[in-house]
Amino acid sequence: MMYFITTINLVMEFIMVAKNMNDLVSLCKRRGFVFPSGEIYGGLKGTYDYGPLGVELKNNLKKAWWKAFIFDRDDFEGLDSAILGNKLIFKHSGHESTFTDPLVDCRECKQRMRADKLKTPGVCDFCGSKNLTEPRDFNLMMRVNVGPVVDENSYAYLRPETAQGIFVNFKNVLDSTSKKVPFGIAQIGKSFRNEITPGNFIFRVREFEQMEAEFFVKPGEDEKWHEYWIAERRKWWLKQGLSEENLKFEVHDKSDLAHYAKACTDIVYQFPHGLEELEGIANRTDFDLGSHTKDAENLGVKAKVLENKDSSSKLSYTDPYTKETYVPYVIEPSAGVDRGMLAILNEAYTEETLDNGDTRIVLKLKPHLAPVKVAVLPLAKNNEKLMETAEEIKNKIKMLGIGKVVLETSGNVGKAYRKHDEIGTPLCITIDFETLEKEPATVTIRDRDTMSQIRLPVSEVLNYVSNFFKYV
Ligand code: GAP
Repeated sequence: MMYFITTINLVMEFIMVAKNMNDLVSLCKRRGFVFPSGEIYGGLKGTYDYGPLGVELKNNLKKAWWKAFIFDRDDFEGLDSAILGNKLIFKHSGHESTFTDPLVDCRECKQRMRADKLKTPGVCDFCGSKNLTEPRDFNLMMRVNVGPVVDENSYAYLRPETAQGIFVNFKNVLDSTSKKVPFGIAQIGKSFRNEITPGNFIFRVREFEQMEAEFFVKPGEDEKWHEYWIAERRKWWLKQGLSEENLKFEVHDKSDLAHYAKACTDIVYQFPHGLEELEGIANRTDFDLGSHTKDAENLGVKAKVLENKDSSSKLSYTDPYTKETYVPYVIEPSAGVDRGMLAILNEAYTEETLDNGDTRIVLKLKPHLAPVKVAVLPLAKNNEKLMETAEEIKNKIKMLGIGKVVLETSGNVGKAYRKHDEIGTPLCITIDFETLEKEPATVTIRDRDTMSQIRLPVSEVLNYVSNFFKYV
């Protein structure tokens, strides 16, 4: 049983999609999504803290990714490897020698910039001077001292990508799960890069999270799987609410490839500051397992790898049916959580002018990503019975396990709607005097995007809410 309520004064005149970085930064600070890290001490460049709503949105995005790889598929296993990495991992991965950006200094204003990202080649971005140094390689890895003794050998690296933790655990996962090629290992975690020019809010930072999957395939089948993953990943981003027109593919030129890749296609997104990489999908060949394995020379590794006398393990695979032994190729979809969150916020941010002239800011997030799923609003805070009923309904909805459900007691109902529009709460349930006085007891449920309201018997609320938040 459902009663529709007419919506007065709620018809929009037009929608204004005002998306610039300042709008997003301001909303994120105001509502508790993202704060500059350690702000009370002046912050730390390239680092951000995620507030009460930011952590929910981020967790929801990671959950959706984990579901897609680990729960919905049979050919993936999960991993959570250490952030601190033995320096030998990054010696043999090639990061020590090649994970660099070209850096130039301006002799006039003393600023440092990436030579390959200058707005005008050869000209300082800050003061316009052409008096720049020659480019020199700058390694982006962060070194940390480990243990009580500080000497030349006591360092490790904060991983610059989560991928290496997967490669060095290839044999452990294979042996403990009996997976058969093709199969994948996926993990989500922090990575660190000493970016020369962090910027554009959470787009380029020095501490960030990655969602990385390494899919191991038979050599020769790699190109087919590369195409497969490019298509899969695009579908997934669309499911997270990014629009077709804002998502594009960019195929890397051979000269632009990372040291490990044979091919790479980026999924790029129209961020407020420009069309930029959201996720890279690389064909890493057998470079990684080939670099970390012992006896590469006897395993037919095709990539150009250096001899590895440090590794104690053979990172090859023997097909149980054909008995053929080979080092698998790797297809890697690698996405940034922070960039994903920025893209999703950008896409969801909407300003609408209502027919009474008011502006409403609304985050049209997909329900599974919304930080707060349902807000329960008692119409009068000083009415004990109303408060009790609201609390009861809120607790019952919480039991559904859909995520964060709150009892909203601040401000009047109009203000509460505005607040929950702005943080993207898909449903507001209002408990009013009709709830208490009429039989059967009913509540109103307001939809964030359309602002339409329905009246529903309390007995049907749980069913309605759980159907609304079903995510498949
Ligand atoms: N394992 C492959 C790899 O790390 P990448 O293109 O360097 O490849 C993958 O990084 C993804 O990680 C990028 O598409 C981006 O979303 C994210 N990412 C990389 N550097 C970042 C940074 N400094 N700040 C935020 N996200 C970053």
